[in-house]
Amino acid sequence: MPIRFIEEKKLFKLDAAGVSYVLSVGPGNYLLGLYWGAAVPDANFDGYAFRDYASSFSPSNEAVGEGPFSPDTAPLEYAGFGTGDFRKCAVSIRNADGNDATDFRYVAHRILAGKGKPASMPATHAENPADCATLEIDMADGTTGAELTLCYTVFEDLPVITRYARLKNASDRAFDIEKISSASVQLPFMDFDFIHLYGRWGAERNMVRSPLAHGQQSISSTRGSSSHYHNPFAALAKRGADEDRGEVYGFNLVYSGSFDITADVDYYGTTRLNMGINPDGFLWHLEPGEVFETPEAVLVYSDEGLGGMSRAFHRLYLNHLIRGKYRHEVRPLLINSWEAAFFDFDTDKLVSFAERAKEIGIDMLVMDDGWFGRRNDDRSSLGDWWVNEDKLPGGLGVLIDRVNALGLKFGIWYEPEMISPDSDIFRAHPDWCLHVPGRPNSIARHQYVIDMSRQDVRDNIWEQMNAVLSKYKIDYVKWDFNRNLTEAGSALLSAPHGEEIFHRFVLGTYELMGRLTDTYPDILLENCSGGGGRFDPGMLYFSPQIWASDNTDAIERLAIQFGTSLCYPASTMGAHVSMSRRTGFETKGNVAMWGTFGYELDPNRLTEKDLEIVKKQVEDYHKYYELIHYGDLYRITDPWDDAFRCAWEFVSPDKREALYTQVTMRYHHCPTLIVRFKGLDPRTVYVLEATGEEYSGALLMNAGLNLSRYPRGTGESFTLHFIKKG
Ligand code: GLA
Repeated sequence: MPIRFIEEKKLFKLDAAGVSYVLSVGPGNYLLGLYWGAAVPDANFDGYAFRDYASSFSPSNEAVGEGPFSPDTAPLEYAGFGTGDFRKCAVSIRNADGNDATDFRYVAHRILAGKGKPASMPATHAENPADCATLEIDMADGTTGAELTLCYTVFEDLPVITRYARLKNASDRAFDIEKISSASVQLPFMDFDFIHLYGRWGAERNMVRSPLAHGQQSISSTRGSSSHYHNPFAALAKRGADEDRGEVYGFNLVYSGSFDITADVDYYGTTRLNMGINPDGFLWHLEPGEVFETPEAVLVYSDEGLGGMSRAFHRLYLNHLIRGKYRHEVRPLLINSWEAAFFDFDTDKLVSFAERAKEIGIDMLVMDDGWFGRRNDDRSSLGDWWVNEDKLPGGLGVLIDRVNALGLKFGIWYEPEMISPDSDIFRAHPDWCLHVPGRPNSIARHQYVIDMSRQDVRDNIWEQMNAVLSKYKIDYVKWDFNRNLTEAGSALLSAPHGEEIFHRFVLGTYELMGRLTDTYPDILLENCSGGGGRFDPGMLYFSPQIWASDNTDAIERLAIQFGTSLCYPASTMGAHVSMSRRTGFETKGNVAMWGTFGYELDPNRLTEKDLEIVKKQVEDYHKYYELIHYGDLYRITDPWDDAFRCAWEFVSPDKREALYTQVTMRYHHCPTLIVRFKGLDPRTVYVLEATGEEYSGALLMNAGLNLSRYPRGTGESFTLHFIKKG
């Protein structure tokens, strides 16, 4: 078992691949987070829990006695509020008396095979219970009658621990949860850099790295979705850790709503990191006997720098998060109508795209926004999910039959969580959008947000979607979400439940998305939110791919895809070749190949020269599918550190094959360029496919190759494919 309880030391030891996580039950049954880091074989943590207390300003619980043990300095694994630990608490409850002091102590524990998941929420999973083990620690707060269970899962073959918490009101009076973290971790150092991914529409997930200092550093979303602005990912990198070396602790929340990740450095220089639902805009009412469960947090430890951290996240998500047939089955190569036609299309135009796409070798046509209601621009019809026969005479069946007759599959666009004020559905049900009585609604892209907390509203949307999906042969759905939540109130939720709306909205979205994937397991679902505004593991649980950004410029995409790759595998990154003009088709293809790959253009506008390149790209898509979708990513340079060049490499898990790609963002005069490759087997002899030259993995990794002869003009790119000899 990778989880042990050492009775005489009251110590829990969780051992994953190369990682140990150690907890103990300390004085007064406080649960202490002692160690998380590189694997340690033994369990001799005697004395490790000791932290000096700091004079009379460090209080103690009377049962424990004054000093040296104080909650103020002890590494409390999951601290309550207002009972002696003054750092950022993990949990806070407002009880029926109106105070919010809590103090949870260890009560019992269980060690189980396999893993559970928080109810009604996405989470990692293991098909084979032998792949992982779970520790559940029960704690209780004697005064409020709140019972807490902390759930930890260790995946034996990955340096990963997943966590979530369950809170039960075991008292006979109601209380409100003000804050409840998915995970709180204690690290006895502060010499870390805080790394996170900030962004905006069209420029998602830029990496930011700054030293931790005394005090707090946090990222969050209050938008009701994980958002373009901060991804629910952060890392603590030991000072000096880089892409390939050094210790990195990675954190990612399996949640698609408002979140908060806060690192808090105390006056002794120890670091606590809490992550979970954002307490701003959250208050959850629990009647006696009711239970609340948090989203799941994913914790990765790497002593191979950021690269090692990324590869661990990627492997976990490929094997234990993404579900459905397209986790392993080759996905159809698609062409999407959005940038080709925007709202201006009809059946004939779409069929003309399909005809040309067929010649190129594309497998599927996706009809984007504009096919429903009276939607000819973005001002109307969201929520009216009936076919616009002015554009598609004879209905969807005619179009799909013609597309299928060409041998292409067919995909469609929806934005189920939105409602246009100019729609039949809104005119009939003006209370179906999020709103606060007496307060005007904010408008964004001419649309309101549907009240996803309401079962009747979800049922209506589902009936409309199902009427289409059950009638026609639809192979793919793009699920979009083009604005954030404001005036977040529901006609059906009032005090004491009013402030539950943000989380209930997310649960409603998960429920509806789950209906879609359960009813139509063969549909390939792609998530989207104005590009990559909801690129998170919660969404990946339902859809194996997410549109990474509305920005399809190959050079700008480099930073977006680099940032996204910190946490998410290439097979999840929606990436298309478009008509954007800054680079040629080779480079557009080489960049989009680092993702799901597809096209977003009018194929009838391709020149003969472009067509030849596109045909070669389609061949490459199939040739490198396995390597890119299931291989290990090694980032060689990144677009923030190197203003000129961006390079990355995929290596197959058996190290028999590697693909190196380099893009020049801006030409600069640099006569010599020697590149050292990564992740190869030093003893294997590799053949460079294009030239037949042979090199050992050791040479490629240590001496490197002189790549000065390859194209290095602005916007130019090339790939090198290495295959094991013999
Ligand atoms: C969002 C998406 C685009 C496209 C449009 C349609 O912006 O990111 O890809 O689907 O909506 O309105």
